[in-house]
Amino acid sequence: MKKILFLLFLYTITFAQKKTFEQRADSVLALMSLEEKVGQLVQYSGGWATGAETGRPSEGSDELIRKGKVGSFLNVVGAEQTKKMQKAAVEESRLKIPLIFGLDVIHGYRSTFPVPIGEASTWNPTLIQKSARMQAEEASSGGVHWTFNPMVDIARDPRWGRIMEGSGEDPYLGSLMAAARVRGYQGDDLSANNTILACVKHYAAYGGAEGGRDYNTVDMSERNFRDFYLPPYKAAVEAGAGSLMASFNEIGGIPSSASKFLLTKILRDEWKTDAFVVSDWNSIGELIPHGVAKDLREAAILGIEATVDMDMEANAYYNHLADLVKEGKVDLKLVDDAVRRVLIAKFKLGLFDDPFKYCDVEREKKTIRSKEIIDATKEVASESLVLLKNEKNILPLSKDLKSIAVIGPLANSNEDPLGGWSGLSNKDEVVPLLEGIKNKLGNDVKINYAEGCKITGDDKSGFDKAIEAAKSSGVVIAIVGESSGMTGEANSRATLDLPGVQEDLIKELHKTGKPVVVVLLNGRPITIPWLQENIPAIIEAWYPGISTSFAVTNVLFGDYNPNGKLPVTFPRHVGQVPIHYNHKNTGRPHDPTNHYTSYYMDLENAPLYPFGYGLSYTTFEYSDLTLEKNQIKKDESLKVSVKVKNTGKYEGKEVVQLYIRDLVGSVTRPVKELKDFAKISLQPGETKAVEFTITPEKLKFHDINMNYVVEPGDFKVFVGTNSVDVKEASFTVVE
Ligand code: BGC
Repeated sequence: MKKILFLLFLYTITFAQKKTFEQRADSVLALMSLEEKVGQLVQYSGGWATGAETGRPSEGSDELIRKGKVGSFLNVVGAEQTKKMQKAAVEESRLKIPLIFGLDVIHGYRSTFPVPIGEASTWNPTLIQKSARMQAEEASSGGVHWTFNPMVDIARDPRWGRIMEGSGEDPYLGSLMAAARVRGYQGDDLSANNTILACVKHYAAYGGAEGGRDYNTVDMSERNFRDFYLPPYKAAVEAGAGSLMASFNEIGGIPSSASKFLLTKILRDEWKTDAFVVSDWNSIGELIPHGVAKDLREAAILGIEATVDMDMEANAYYNHLADLVKEGKVDLKLVDDAVRRVLIAKFKLGLFDDPFKYCDVEREKKTIRSKEIIDATKEVASESLVLLKNEKNILPLSKDLKSIAVIGPLANSNEDPLGGWSGLSNKDEVVPLLEGIKNKLGNDVKINYAEGCKITGDDKSGFDKAIEAAKSSGVVIAIVGESSGMTGEANSRATLDLPGVQEDLIKELHKTGKPVVVVLLNGRPITIPWLQENIPAIIEAWYPGISTSFAVTNVLFGDYNPNGKLPVTFPRHVGQVPIHYNHKNTGRPHDPTNHYTSYYMDLENAPLYPFGYGLSYTTFEYSDLTLEKNQIKKDESLKVSVKVKNTGKYEGKEVVQLYIRDLVGSVTRPVKELKDFAKISLQPGETKAVEFTITPEKLKFHDINMNYVVEPGDFKVFVGTNSVDVKEASFTVVE
């Protein structure tokens, strides 16, 4: 019997090539016992301790694999290790179904790129696709089939530490970044040995957490959800993402991991995707503390009924699903549908054809930290830096200075520049900025280094040495910010100031009268109005990854002209959050002559730096904003053009941004919405005409009846260098 089954299985996977993935999955499904089916829906972490306290299988991972009780592992890496486990699956389990290995390849596997919010600051989806491609090359060579990325959660609240993992506040930019990453990871052929399955997360609206506190409740109108939060998930699915992750949060009383609205209605019925859904870590188990399940059995029912296909670490499916089916509490069809989706992904990855294609130790050696990948980290890191201020062109600094003070708790760090989720990155391969500056300038420039203070805490005992260093130098470079551990999962903050006494340190340095350049390493918008007011030059570097020193020193000393733009608004004060440029006008927009309008008594409404903001060493002049016509029908497109001239001395790149405003709608519309942008390069004195097309799709929104339509009426169009400094024109849409 065993032999017959095996032959049948071989036939299924070998001669069924012409069948669709679904048919091939069905022919495997037909051979499976209920326990084996449930096994495909179970995922455990190979490395780290588990989050769920109870109910974890007593068997070790090898035994689970041999018995067909597990379909996937996360956190198992390396060609050799994954091969060992895969061998057990395809040689020792009854049905020889390959395992799928998942990992959080968020901004690199071994070679770390900038954190995603830094990558989004490039406003260069082609480059970010390349970054994801390189990450996939490296990860796939290390046996990884599947990354839990892109993280596409829109975030308007920088208190939320995971704002660092996403692309910021805007649905349009976020959608382009989401799709670019999916294309980069998955390539054109998912069955190739250098492409990996993408997992769009955290579905959905995880970034809308109340108070910016991680894992907290989300509650918003369906219109807000569909117009602002949902588009990046949809864009990623449309780009072909093979999987999604159900988020930890609830929305409007229903936790995502039990949400038929999210997982069945939107995902299956509206978007018609066969992408499979994995829970977040123990998120099925968390249906109990959420208060919608009384125990893990009930949680398992809610999860499978909502179509959460794979249970990451909750033990809910492992312990209860088979019994629930046998007792008639769960329809077998739900289990079959989930297994089919998981098997389809394994077929798409080509794992049935060659389960070891990702386990080539030689390829792994050649690929990890290859020149091509390292070069890409340099390119992306360079484009991710945002110049926030440069008074009197103090930057770039001259390489002929006699002495420079390098000060601050992040100056000599080789770990923090990597940012959170830096995976297998090795901090010993990171050059701290202090060393990078020394390398850049050679021995002729004296570097006076002082830490000054720690990132957190109130110890000022290092100030004196820092002040001395500043006094004996021509210029001060202060490298300050947040430790990498202050952003990312569970790292929410109630304040957004520079932590500890870092701002006090900068105030002391400023008092010396020496020019101070601030380099910020951080994973969220921080509130730095004093710096903006007093310090002549500020660079937002985010966490640029392994090529931090390359990118930052090139910008500091003029070998690279910064061109990043903020993908998220920087507030002046934490009291302004949530803050975002695409807000509504309200019935009482702020009017300084009228007290009874929408404003703060003790703070202006405007942010410190608006969405889309970022300077260059050169200057750009916008002119001749021209609309092809002033009236279009609602199914017509409109061409808009503008001239941009480089009026400065450096060659530079500019992100030309187009926003619209729908003046009167059946429902209220934002004061501005990004609808297009172009990143162009200009020589000094050069002018380029940039043309955009406003398609009907770009004018659509969910109307009063929740239909997604273009409504006739008057529109404004704005084109400029950020969301505030724009030229404007008008057009009308008619029936
Ligand atoms: C995070 C996910 C991540 C998963 C697996 C969870 O705690 O929320 O983003 O993919 O762990 O590591």
